[in-house]
Amino acid sequence: MKIIHAKDYADMSRKAANIISAQVILKPDCILGLATGSTPIGAYQQLIKWYEKGDVDFAQVSTYNLDEYRGLLHDDPQSYHFFMRDNFFNHINIDLSRTHVPDGSTTDAAAACAEYDRMVAAAGYPDLQLLGIGNNGHIGFNEPDDHFSAGTHCVDLTESTIEANSRLFDNIDDVPRQAYTMGVQTIMYARMIVIAASGEKKAQAVRDMCFGPVTPSCPASILQLHTNCVVVADEAALSLCPEA
Ligand code: GLP
Repeated sequence: MKIIHAKDYADMSRKAANIISAQVILKPDCILGLATGSTPIGAYQQLIKWYEKGDVDFAQVSTYNLDEYRGLLHDDPQSYHFFMRDNFFNHINIDLSRTHVPDGSTTDAAAACAEYDRMVAAAGYPDLQLLGIGNNGHIGFNEPDDHFSAGTHCVDLTESTIEANSRLFDNIDDVPRQAYTMGVQTIMYARMIVIAASGEKKAQAVRDMCFGPVTPSCPASILQLHTNCVVVADEAALSLCPEA
């Protein structure tokens, strides 16, 4: 893993956006794996600014998002479909028909997940996968477990994730209990992974990811085995990694 030190959230966002924009410039029809959560918002904002200045062109880019809450319609403001349009897609020249997010509105979980896997595989997997990390070391919605997951599947969210994500809902009871997520194996197929982390709350997870054993109890630790993984983390997120 290559660890890139950022000063703070703004610096982390610019550094992550720089890597993503380099990917788009090098391969204009690249496939980006994208993430939601608070972490990537600054990087998306930076990419929007560079798009507006004419520095980066998304016309031929395709995207596959990691995950979606089960049971939310695409227009639900809490859905990741909505999040991606609101925070990124509506502000750049991407062709919306090339953007993909697992379909949380499909009640047939097995069919929704199998279809998403089929699409990601047919596309050839992301050239670059952007990730955030959960406080408990989850990636996408792959929660700590006794095994690493393979393809897209339906997960029961842990209480700690429900609580962490409840800050974005009016009420904790509104947070869906399940989600569809790309599996760890699918994530590992990306040719490059950029995982961003900011803030003290992520410090233990970042330490476990980078310096702990590779174990499904910290799903992000599998990234140690990826051949091209870059961690972009700020000082607070790296505060428990003096060796970094
Ligand atoms: C959610 C998402 C993850 C994200 C994580 C951290 O659970 N499914 O993809 O990485 O939250 O979110 P945040 O960046 O808001 O801390």
